[in-house]
Amino acid sequence: MSKKVKVGIIGLGFMGTTHLDIYRNNDKAEVVAIADINPAKLAGDISSVFANIGGGDNSIPLDLQGIATYSDGMDLIADLNVDLVDICVPTFLHHKYAMATFAADKHLMLEKPIGRTSEEAKEIVETAGKSDKCFTVGMCVRAWPEYRYVYEQFTAGKYGKLVNAFFKRVSPTLAGKSWEDWFSDESRSGGALLDLHLHDIDEVLYLFGRPRAVTSTGSRDFRGQGSVDHVFTFYDFDDGKTVVAEGGWSPNENVPFEMSFQLVCEQATVIFNAAGLNEYFEDGRVVKPDLSAYPGPTGWHQELDSLLVAIQAGGIAEKYITPVEMVDGICIAEAERKSIDNNSNKVIVEYSK
Ligand SMILES: NC(=O)c1ccc[n+]([C@@H]2O[C@H](COP(=O)([O-])OP(=O)(O)OC[C@H]3O[C@@H](n4cnc5c(N)ncnc54)[C@H](O)[C@@H]3O)[C@@H](O)[C@H]2O)c1
Repeated sequence: MSKKVKVGIIGLGFMGTTHLDIYRNNDKAEVVAIADINPAKLAGDISSVFANIGGGDNSIPLDLQGIATYSDGMDLIADLNVDLVDICVPTFLHHKYAMATFAADKHLMLEKPIGRTSEEAKEIVETAGKSDKCFTVGMCVRAWPEYRYVYEQFTAGKYGKLVNAFFKRVSPTLAGKSWEDWFSDESRSGGALLDLHLHDIDEVLYLFGRPRAVTSTGSRDFRGQGSVDHVFTFYDFDDGKTVVAEGGWSPNENVPFEMSFQLVCEQATVIFNAAGLNEYFEDGRVVKPDLSAYPGPTGWHQELDSLLVAIQAGGIAEKYITPVEMVDGICIAEAERKSIDNNSNKVIVEYSK
């Protein structure tokens, strides 16, 4: 059996605790170090962690016995026992810790978005290109069983040519539910446009390739802080197919989290919503696909497992996302923001290369 990958996690909030739990249930990994600036977290108290999707019982303290704890992420990166650095800190800190991880010549799992801006994202990807270590970013929807299945069937031609597609992702407000309320600060999080809607931007990119231009409209943060917290976007493709996505944080606490999509193709319509995933074929068949072949239960499990497999295999790139695509998603989000700021005029997306 291959040697376990020794993991250090920086940031023990919603994503860090989720990753910790997944690694602890994966026999390819051993979590050896944790870093967080909050001493309560390092003592195992995760009662302040909020999850809009998934999440365990955060009233139960974590058992961190045998795990090195650091108040400074840089000390974790310098820990010689750590092979894989998993960065789960707020978005505006991704660049700093990612660059330090490359400098320390370690494998890197970086939560999404890869950076707060496309400039940061480009620099991270360029630096990653000079490293022989594994690197991925947590665009987990690519690995989410329902989305993954449809990606594989659609790209294999099972549904025929796409006519139109719609994606939706909405969540209750995150205001007041994160460290220093960083989600509410656009300069730190990019608002719902970058934080939440990015998942559907990335799915559009994954399924259909680069949109040429975007036309977006959106509503501003209700607290008046300037971020776009609800967005509707039309994506332009040269072949004229219609692709639309909606994403946002509702100001209301009691709104259920929803992720859904509908692909209308020439030979089938595929819908994923509260009723699960269903394929409606032109010959009248309605099929609920068997997803048991996708070890799950979530895309987070699959993306982390695929990274561990790649590290154990000797640093071969993991399978879900290319470095160029990591940057492309941010470039599209920035074009959407420009379109909203520009009275919903169409904006050509400026890709990095
Ligand atoms: N892939 C997904 O589905 C998904 C879902 C949620 C969040 N995320 C991403 O994960 C990242 C973290 O989000 P979250 O929801 O866990 O946030 P959070 O606020 O719940 O947790 C952030 C943690 O980082 C710690 N922290 C802050 N500054 C630090 C520093 N300098 N050094 C060490 N620790 C520090 C905080 O104390 C807190 O424990 C974000 O980039 C977010 O976009 C991804």
